[in-house]
Amino acid sequence: MTEGKSELVLGIETSCDETSASVVREGREILSLVISSQTDLHSRYGGVVPELASRAHLEALMPAVEESLREAGVGLRDIGAVAVTRGPGLIGSLLVGLTAAKALSFALDIPLVGVNHLEAHIYAVFLEHPEVGPPLVAFVVSGGHTVLAYMPRHLEYEVLGETLDDAAGEAYDKVARLLDLGYPGGPIIDRLARQGDPEAVRFPRALMHDGTYNFSLSGLKTAVSNYVRQARASNRAFRVEDLAASFQAAVVEVQVEKIARAALEKGVGQVVIAGGVAANSYLREKLKERLDRHGISLFYPSIKLCLDNAAMVAALGYYLLREGKTSDLGLEATAVLPIGSP
Ligand code: KG4
Ligand code: ZN
Repeated sequence: MTEGKSELVLGIETSCDETSASVVREGREILSLVISSQTDLHSRYGGVVPELASRAHLEALMPAVEESLREAGVGLRDIGAVAVTRGPGLIGSLLVGLTAAKALSFALDIPLVGVNHLEAHIYAVFLEHPEVGPPLVAFVVSGGHTVLAYMPRHLEYEVLGETLDDAAGEAYDKVARLLDLGYPGGPIIDRLARQGDPEAVRFPRALMHDGTYNFSLSGLKTAVSNYVRQARASNRAFRVEDLAASFQAAVVEVQVEKIARAALEKGVGQVVIAGGVAANSYLREKLKERLDRHGISLFYPSIKLCLDNAAMVAALGYYLLREGKTSDLGLEATAVLPIGSP
C-alpha cells in the first residue's frame, strides 16, 4: 500500500435493504456517501423479502460504487483498501457486497477488510463526533438487533445483554403493521406518539428489574395485539396516537433503565446509541434526561448515519486496517455474527 492512498477506504454495505458505497478518509472524513434504498420495493410486503433484496443489490451496487468515487472526486486507483460488511445480515444480500469487494481487492491489489455490521453502527458515531471514544457503553438497536455492549478500547467489545426474542425495530414494524400504519413502522410510530398519551394504556415492561441487561419484546407485541383485538371486537374506540405512545413508552423505559445501569456499573462517562432505532426521538430524549442526572454524555449519529450506510463500514474498516486486521479472499458471509466475534 503506497503512502497517501492508504488513508482512503471504500466502504460497501449490502447486509439488508440498503445498497450503499462510501469513500472515507482516515476513518473520520466522509468524502462521499451513496445510499440506494429498497424500502419501496419491500413496503407492500410489510418487511424485507430476501430474494428481492439480493437481486436489487446486484443491480444497484456497481452504480453506487461508481457514484461514490465520482462524488469523492477520486478514481479506483486512489483507493487504499476496500471494507465490506461480512455479517450479520441476509446471506444472499451479504454475498453481493462481498463478491464485489473481493473482485475490487483482487483487481486493484489492495487489502480487503471484512466488517461486522453491528460494530460498524457504533463507528458511525465516531465519524460525526471525533471527541467520542472508548471506554463507553454502546446500545446497537435496529430492525434485526438489540445489543448492549461495553467497549473498553477500540475494536474490543463485551456483550452485556441482548434481546431474547424480537429486535426493537422488528417490534415497531410489527406493531405498525398490526395498526395498518405502513412500513417501516418505527418512524411512523415515533411521529404519531408525539400526539399521544404515553400513559393511556399500561403495557408490560418485560425484564425491567430482572438484574440482567437482556430485553424481551414479544410479550409487549402480543399485549398490543390483544388490546387492539378486544377493542375492535367490542367496538371500543381508541386513539392510535395513544396506543403508539403507550407502546413506545413501554419499549423505551426498559431500554433507558438498562442502558443507564450498564453505564453506571461500568463507570463510563459516555454512552453511544446507534442503528435505525437510535433515530427514535423519545429514546433520545428520555435517555438524555436520565444520563444527564449522572453526568454521563449521550451521543448518537445523525438520522442518515443511524440507518444502514457504507460510511460506517469504511470508518470501522480503517481502524481494522491500522491494526493489520485484514481479510483474505476466502472471507465468508455470515448471517449470525455477534458483536466482538473474531
Ligand atoms: O439499522 P437499520 O436501518 O437496519 C437494520 O439493520 O435493521 O434499522 C431499521 C429499523 C426499522 O425496523 C425501523 O422501523 C427502525 O429502524 N426505525 C425506527 C425509527 N427510525 C427507524 N424505530 C423507532 N423510531 C424511529 N424513529
Ligand atoms: Zn443496521
